[in-house]
Amino acid sequence: MSSHDISEDNLPHKQAHAHGALGVADKDNPFADPGLPPHEHRIQDIDEKASKRSERIVAALFTLSMLATIGFIAAFVALPVDKIVYIFPLGHISALNFSLGMTLGVALFAIGAGAVHWARTLMSDVEVAAERHPIEASPEVREQVFSDFRDGVTESGIGFGRRKLMRNTLLGALTLVPLSGVVLLRELGPLPGEKLRHTMWSKGKLLVNVNTDEPLRPSDIAVGSLTFAMPEGLHEHDHDFQKEIAKAALMLVRLEPNDIKDKRELEWSHEGIVAYSKICTHVGCPISLYEQQTHHVLCPCHQSTFDLADGARVIFGPAGHALPQLRIGVNDEGYLQALGDFEEPVGPAFWERGES
Ligand code: FES
Repeated sequence: MSSHDISEDNLPHKQAHAHGALGVADKDNPFADPGLPPHEHRIQDIDEKASKRSERIVAALFTLSMLATIGFIAAFVALPVDKIVYIFPLGHISALNFSLGMTLGVALFAIGAGAVHWARTLMSDVEVAAERHPIEASPEVREQVFSDFRDGVTESGIGFGRRKLMRNTLLGALTLVPLSGVVLLRELGPLPGEKLRHTMWSKGKLLVNVNTDEPLRPSDIAVGSLTFAMPEGLHEHDHDFQKEIAKAALMLVRLEPNDIKDKRELEWSHEGIVAYSKICTHVGCPISLYEQQTHHVLCPCHQSTFDLADGARVIFGPAGHALPQLRIGVNDEGYLQALGDFEEPVGPAFWERGES
């Protein structure tokens, strides 16, 4: 701040007094404008050493932010996900989560603290009384605003030539902090590749009842009921159970063969038993409602309705395409078995469209 700026004569209450705008309260004018209290200069405005000290504090905070961001990245790369440590008073917690939280917290806090300290101790401290004026500013006022802005930039020390250390450390801290977010993108995991296009079903896999864990025979599928099946070899306590069942979940319905309108559906069925993916092609909810009279299945999430007697085509709702059908038959022992995998990806239409 220049000596001109901090001159008492330039302070608003002095100027206002000079223009006779302030009054003295008396019997006739009890609410006279008392004006602003005397301005007290900060130590940094009058002592160059204090100003330099503040500048160093701000730079130190920005530097701390940079170090914390580097610490964040180092922790992300070096610490194993399953390492547990004891930290009083939090108890046993994940070392990785604790380190990421602490370092990112310090990085953001240090930028904020540095900016606040800078504003409080080094930026312009002139009190300005803004007069009311028409909303549309005149060209002179606009020019004045830009001029004041430029002065502000100069006085705040962010411009070239002054307080380069502080400006450079701030730029460094602001550049590094977003890296934390970029690094976290890695946690989204590897690309799915072909995993979503295939399920556990393959030729010869038995259809197992999800409730009893027993292989199904055609006689187990009653007319009018919806039976849920999964591939043999998949068990509820398997590590990958949720991942696999989310793709392989199957529903079986017995129809009158004469009621099946779709030729391919009839060929892929066995004695009127049809097997369809249980995963809704809208956004992947499990389908669970069956209406025997109409052969419709309904997804409870957004009411997409599929006609099982007509290739499971969509007859209502937001689903984009029919449910994938699994081709089934029976093995030599009379158990229902798959005759291959689904021919298209199960679930939401996105993946199917992605092929075209
Ligand atoms: S998920 Fe089935 S209708 Fe939306």
